[in-house]
Amino acid sequence: MAEPAPGPGAASPAAPDALCPLCPSQALVERGRAWVWEVRQYGQPVRAFALRFDGRVHAYLNRCAHVPTEMDWQPGEFLDADRRWILCSIHGATYEPTSGRCIAGPCGRGRLTPLAIEERDGMVLWRPTRDIRPLGSEPAP
Ligand code: FES
Repeated sequence: MAEPAPGPGAASPAAPDALCPLCPSQALVERGRAWVWEVRQYGQPVRAFALRFDGRVHAYLNRCAHVPTEMDWQPGEFLDADRRWILCSIHGATYEPTSGRCIAGPCGRGRLTPLAIEERDGMVLWRPTRDIRPLGSEPAP
């Protein structure tokens, strides 16, 4: 599932530590297509993505550490042909899916910006921070 239905992931304003529903757990298959949704970082809309790798869901802002641009090859497609690495479609920066750490390419010592994820009762939830908020919420003071 590449795009969320309106509502989940774009929750109404919430306290910085409140979990927001993102998608059903079954929507994220092992090393499959990511779930993509919009958040606000410092008040600006930015896309984020969540994918399942080695059984756990990992989420990052969809923003390369080389040039701050979106990375997916096709909507929701972030992994390389072997489904082993997150690969930026622009210049080939390669990231470890479980840590977001750059391991090859022009991202140097950079890393992807992680979002905290939890799974409960068959749902994937993400935890906003002071700087990364649900779409539709106001920037933190
Ligand atoms: S923008 Fe991602 S590798 Fe250059």
